[in-house]
Amino acid sequence: MSYSTSNDQRKPAIVILDFGSQYSELIARRIRETEVYSLVVSYSTTVEELRKLAPKGIILSGGPSSVYAEGAPLCDPGIWDLGIPVLGVCYGMQLMVHQLGGRVEAAVGKAEYGKAPLFVDDPSALLTNVENGSTMWMSHGDSVRALPESFVRLAYTENTREAVIASHERRLYGVQFHPEVVHSTHGMALIRNFVYHICSCEPDWTTNAFIDEALAQVKAQVGEKRVLLALSGGVDSSTLAFLLNKAIGDQLTCMFIDQGFMRKGEPEFLMEFFDQKFHINVEYINARERFISKLQGITDPEEKRKIIGAEFIRVFEEESVRLGPFDYLAQGTLYPDVIESAATNVDPKTGERVAVKIKSHHNVGGLPKDLQFKLVEPLRNLFKDEVRKVGRSLGLPEEIVKRHPFPGPGLAIRILGEVTNQKLNCLRDADLIVREEISKSGLYNQVWQAFAVLIPVCTVGVMGDQRTYAWPVVLRCVSSEDGMTADWSHLPYGVLESISNRIVNEVEGVNRVVLDITSKPPGTIEWE
Ligand code: XMP
Repeated sequence: MSYSTSNDQRKPAIVILDFGSQYSELIARRIRETEVYSLVVSYSTTVEELRKLAPKGIILSGGPSSVYAEGAPLCDPGIWDLGIPVLGVCYGMQLMVHQLGGRVEAAVGKAEYGKAPLFVDDPSALLTNVENGSTMWMSHGDSVRALPESFVRLAYTENTREAVIASHERRLYGVQFHPEVVHSTHGMALIRNFVYHICSCEPDWTTNAFIDEALAQVKAQVGEKRVLLALSGGVDSSTLAFLLNKAIGDQLTCMFIDQGFMRKGEPEFLMEFFDQKFHINVEYINARERFISKLQGITDPEEKRKIIGAEFIRVFEEESVRLGPFDYLAQGTLYPDVIESAATNVDPKTGERVAVKIKSHHNVGGLPKDLQFKLVEPLRNLFKDEVRKVGRSLGLPEEIVKRHPFPGPGLAIRILGEVTNQKLNCLRDADLIVREEISKSGLYNQVWQAFAVLIPVCTVGVMGDQRTYAWPVVLRCVSSEDGMTADWSHLPYGVLESISNRIVNEVEGVNRVVLDITSKPPGTIEWE
């Protein structure tokens, strides 16, 4: 029922029933931004299960279905009589109306998508501080035609007669728009009203509260036993290392496997930082030779990824035996992974429920579950921005907290075709220049990723009086919210110019720099 672990000590103040909206997760994040803990659970969660969770409020998410579609996801009708305030968002509001005896109809010719000004009838309770005429984000085909008994309208838009409704008596509320998206200018005010005024929640979801609870939970779970953590240097595994070090000190062993595909200076930086500066127990495993020799003659991207993933697991297993025995394996699983692997989506056409596709990326978070370890996953209820706050609060430097995502297979998937040490060295140098120049320009925190890709196909150039015949490097720089979609960054010409000049002048083996101006879709962020 819950998309969360069963051993959670903290109960959610607000529970979000997920009807398959792309925004369910975003609602949870918005609630947490108000310092109130919220969790996403399946729409099919029963009233008995909800009673056990004892939330102060329930939100029904939107969803792609029509309440009349065959197989449309319905909630336990007992929810309306639980005595807990409920806010229905979009589909959630229509479901509320439908199940309580009102009428919902297809808004023929009047479907509303995009921004619409909201006209407020009653500026109290749910709509306190929601300005009359403020913009809200609409995305619906069906509309409410007749309200159930005891409901009143609180606001409307030009095309939607019942845009905000309430039964004050039953503490049931509905909004036809999406207050959680940034285009809804006063959406956060509405969410705050629901959370604080209507549900009387306390602002107790803070970084420090999380850290205290997580430390206690880890200590209770692990006791005197030993824990192994595969450290990659990314923000998740680094935060986890800091948290576990604080909780269990010497019982933690971090393993850093250097597969030879890291960026320039990263293995050295990591070892110096964790091992020497913070005295966190990190075992450096130099596996460079193993990986590069496995990739000899391999040119197909998928094959490369599979070989690297398999080798990673082999090294990990061998080294864990050598350093072990360990009872627990710590993993930096985050809440979006938990939701994604538990959630089901509803097909808008057939109304059938379909499993959400899970990414096949192999990285250190993706070790096989049949390894003989019990799991420690203290970050599994956190969103990425919450992990960053925790990391920062535990003393991780900005350099790691703000680090761009870096793929598990590293530079190997940024060299097209066969990977060799010569190409790796060349790409490392080019990549460092990209990072340096992007940082110097002050744009590092505004872009999702900025990196170089090596195309080992020679092109002709001229340097001094000499003809050159060398490789081009591609500059890939994208902006994105979550890596699922992305746009190429419109970098200033001056920045492009210094990157290009420096790479051609400083990197041996490269005589040309080109810019990738493809968004995702249709391109992917990485080239392989
Ligand atoms: P694509 O190339 O699929 O990448 O648009 C989306 C995001 O995922 C990162 N990425 C990976 N991360 N292991 C990872 O941990 C991988 O195998 C992997 N492949 C791609 C990529 O850098 C981008 O941020």
